[in-house]
Amino acid sequence: MKISVKVPATAANIGPGFDCLGMALPIYNIITIEETVLPGTGVEINVIPESPMIDEASLEHIPLDENSLVYKAVELLYNSIGQTPSELKINIHSGIPVARGLGSSASVIVGALVAANELLGRPADEVALLSIACEIEGHPDNITPAIVGGLVISSQQEDGTVVYRKIDWPADWIITVCTPDFELSTDISRSVLPKEVPMKDAVYNAQRVGMFIHAVHTKDKELMKLALKDRLHQPYRMKLIQGLDKIMDNLRYIDSVLGCVISGAGSSILIISEKNDIDKIKNTVRDIWADQNIKCDIKTVTVEQNGAQIVNNDD
Ligand code: HSE
Repeated sequence: MKISVKVPATAANIGPGFDCLGMALPIYNIITIEETVLPGTGVEINVIPESPMIDEASLEHIPLDENSLVYKAVELLYNSIGQTPSELKINIHSGIPVARGLGSSASVIVGALVAANELLGRPADEVALLSIACEIEGHPDNITPAIVGGLVISSQQEDGTVVYRKIDWPADWIITVCTPDFELSTDISRSVLPKEVPMKDAVYNAQRVGMFIHAVHTKDKELMKLALKDRLHQPYRMKLIQGLDKIMDNLRYIDSVLGCVISGAGSSILIISEKNDIDKIKNTVRDIWADQNIKCDIKTVTVEQNGAQIVNNDD
């Protein structure tokens, strides 16, 4: 039996929503798990790159053995019903750039879990899949939209369960995803964060998450411009993303821009805007990065409403 699952990329930490606000994006990985017939062959994992942003160097960072996220995900699910995975071939068709803040890890964890769950006759429901996936990833803001799609606010409770709600994103607001040619690992990007933050910064973000939710519900552009700010992670991570301070400064002069934020732990950035001036937005980013010898891929998209889906795949 062979199961393929298509999983969207995700942008976590949207604006003030560090570790809690994330959205699915129309860029995909397809994870296929096949039961092989030869006994004792273990688990074979292959990655097939399907994006020009995924090169040999980035593939070297993806473990293909028992240390891989895919293997851990499959193993946890099998263990939850008292079994051990073996005789499996796992292929990852990878369209999501690696280590660019677009949820490539979350996507392979989710794809592997959903495919393995299907192979095993669906022992895990959505609640169980969310908590197993978050146990591996460590935070819910990429995992949840990768499973359920859309813009999502989520929180992992003390008992491991994930509480989430999907929020309708205004159709008139679009997202320009800018991915530079350099990687930034989540471990490095988390290592620059302080263990504690000043009370005034925590209050600043709490105010803005409230503003963000209200601005999205009421399509309030001026409120959204105030809401898309952050003091919990961006000030610390800015220095890891070359050119970002200049990009943010320059985008302030484009009226349709509501905000520019780091996607997940970086290195990609998202520009949230109305539908006009898209070329101006893209050229601003491309020119600033080009001046610093940074190549980039820029896509303008809307939020992907579907999460992980089982698909037919001839792989
Ligand atoms: N919220 C996470 C972080 C997303 O910023 O580290 C990356 O996995």
